[in-house]
Amino acid sequence: MAISLPKFHPSSLIYQHPFIFIITISFLCNFTTAETHSFGRIISPSTLGLNKPQKLSHLRFYFHDIVDGPNQSAFRVAAAPSTNNSPTGFGAVVVMDDALTELPEMGSKVVGRAQGMYALASRSEVGLLMVLNFAFTEGKYNGSNLSVLGRNAANSAVREMPVVGGSGLFRFANGYAQARTHHSTTVEDVVEYNVFVFHY
Ligand SMILES: *[C@@H]1O[C@H](CO)[C@@H](O)[C@H](O)[C@H]1NC(C)=O
Ligand SMILES: *[C@@H]1O[C@H](CO)[C@@H](O)[C@H](O)[C@H]1NC(C)=O
Ligand SMILES: *[C@@H]1O[C@H](CO)[C@@H](O)[C@H](O)[C@H]1NC(C)=O
Repeated sequence: MAISLPKFHPSSLIYQHPFIFIITISFLCNFTTAETHSFGRIISPSTLGLNKPQKLSHLRFYFHDIVDGPNQSAFRVAAAPSTNNSPTGFGAVVVMDDALTELPEMGSKVVGRAQGMYALASRSEVGLLMVLNFAFTEGKYNGSNLSVLGRNAANSAVREMPVVGGSGLFRFANGYAQARTHHSTTVEDVVEYNVFVFHY
């Protein structure tokens, strides 16, 4: 005895069942992407050893911005015609290679350098645009770097700047740095930095 089966239409299955329809479309899309963008592909985080929880590190060090004298490490390299008449120094650009030490004293252990620049970018207060890398040279951090990009209102008690990335131990880093002036002379600013950063 013949059993009458409902007629099977593959096309109606694919296009009338929403779930299968979505799977089909996304498969086709992936296929198309792989075809047209062969330089990029999705990989598993475990490929880079990222299948573990992120760590949160706290680093504390002292930043020595020496703007004059025999050990000068920060140099004004550019300015606007009006910078010297600006109460906020607006328009100046300074390039630095400043020592980072374990303690406030310059003679204490150097743990790294702050290499980069700051621009006096505010006409209403001393407001710096900071663009720098912390290049660490001590302990397990030796050879690893953190990148900071942020606003530094230098006369405020606490300034906070985003940590936007890193290298070495600090790959995939994100976090923030807090700066507090420890002391200031005409030659040097010593700034305490507390950096809180997530990394793997
Ligand atoms: C410059 O640095 C050297 C070496 O760290 C140090 O001995 C000297 O006292 C510093 N000079 C000044 C004026 O701070
Ligand atoms: C940091 O690493 C560099 C390069 O590998 C090495 O020459 C230097 O001795 C290291 N410094 C410390 C304090 O371990
Ligand atoms: C970090 O910066 C230092 C100094 O510029 C460099 O020698 C080192 O290769 C950098 N580390 C990484 C992991 O890129």
